Amino acid sequence: MLTGHAVHMTQRPIGTATTDQFRIVELELAPVGEGQALVRNLLLSVDPYMRQLMSEGWPLNAPLGMGRAIGVVEQSRSLRLPEGTLVFHTGGLQTHVVLDADEPGVRRLVVHEGVELQSYLSILGGTGLTAYVGLTKVLAVADDDIVFLTSIAGGVGVAAAQIARRLGAAKIVGTAGTDAKCALAVDVLGADAAVNWKTTSVRDFLSEHVGGNLSATLDGVGGEQLEAAIEASARHARIAIVGGISQYDASAPWAPPRNFQDIHFKALSVRGYAVRDYAELREEAEDFLVPLLRSGEVVDRVTVSEGFSEVPAALVGLLQGSNTGKAIVCLTPRYTVHAA
Ligand SMILES: NC(=O)c1ccc[n+]([C@@H]2O[C@H](COP(=O)([O-])OP(=O)(O)OC[C@H]3O[C@@H](n4cnc5c(N)ncnc54)[C@H](OP(=O)(O)O)[C@@H]3O)[C@@H](O)[C@H]2O)c1
Repeated sequence: MLTGHAVHMTQRPIGTATTDQFRIVELELAPVGEGQALVRNLLLSVDPYMRQLMSEGWPLNAPLGMGRAIGVVEQSRSLRLPEGTLVFHTGGLQTHVVLDADEPGVRRLVVHEGVELQSYLSILGGTGLTAYVGLTKVLAVADDDIVFLTSIAGGVGVAAAQIARRLGAAKIVGTAGTDAKCALAVDVLGADAAVNWKTTSVRDFLSEHVGGNLSATLDGVGGEQLEAAIEASARHARIAIVGGISQYDASAPWAPPRNFQDIHFKALSVRGYAVRDYAELREEAEDFLVPLLRSGEVVDRVTVSEGFSEVPAALVGLLQGSNTGKAIVCLTPRYTVHAA
């Protein structure tokens, strides 16, 4: 019998998620059938949307699916995924998985020379694509734009700041939850200024740095940071809403911005989007980012937790801002990973 390990959620969090609501369990895997492959996971992605799955979507006392991962094929009965192949899939938070080779979300991973494997879960993965789509398609950032990025030192933010710079934004400002992350945003990611939202008013920061001239916002935080963006926006500014992490833990419904009326008064364009609707742009984003990564003009940042037992802590930590760049759990010492 094939076995591995999975994470179970034993209790649904109300408010803040805690590690004691999860446990690691042994997992019995089905035998590898025709057209299937047994994959040993190397890298697991932990993401903010998983907080929403904790409230609704993930069953209790069952493996936590719907998570992106990179693994290697260990047994195969599929010509599409021969043994030794690197695979990208969405099989979730477990050490091993038996995949149908033609399942949606399963693809053979083609690694570009000079690019780290972890980058396919970060800047070349869903978070990088989210940033690319937000800036190039939803906001269509151009030369004269003054850009505001919430959570600028997170997975999406790291990619977004650097892409905005490459698109020629006139000014880039952002928020992060520590002074060190703010320094990274300015010193490494090319932002003009960043503010620690835990110690300083984002409203005052935007007033000082952009006045009322903000033209493009990419927001994944919501709440007061979105309100501050609306307040600092110029007439006809664009706001792309990609999430609302400040609201994910809340037991009450999402708080709409209290200055909602300014969307009308300032004729703002506010547009939500989901990266899953833009999967066909992955190659375009890779064509844009891979040469920049190779030349060092764009850098990746990840926070790596080592070992499968760290999955609950990585997940809970992400919701408390413990990550810089993309949060990843590494299950093997075989691949080199560079921490932030
Ligand atoms: N729609 C889509 O297709 C899509 C795809 C990918 C991501 N997203 C969304 O984009 C946003 C960023 O995702 P990501 O993967 O890049 O995550 P991330 O920024 O790497 O990690 C989450 C960060 O959010 C910040 N945070 C946590 N709790 C917060 C709170 N209560 N208030 C304000 N900030 C808080 C923390 O950073 P700091 O405290 O340092 O700011 C934390 O590090 C999330 O809302 C996510 O759901 C959406």
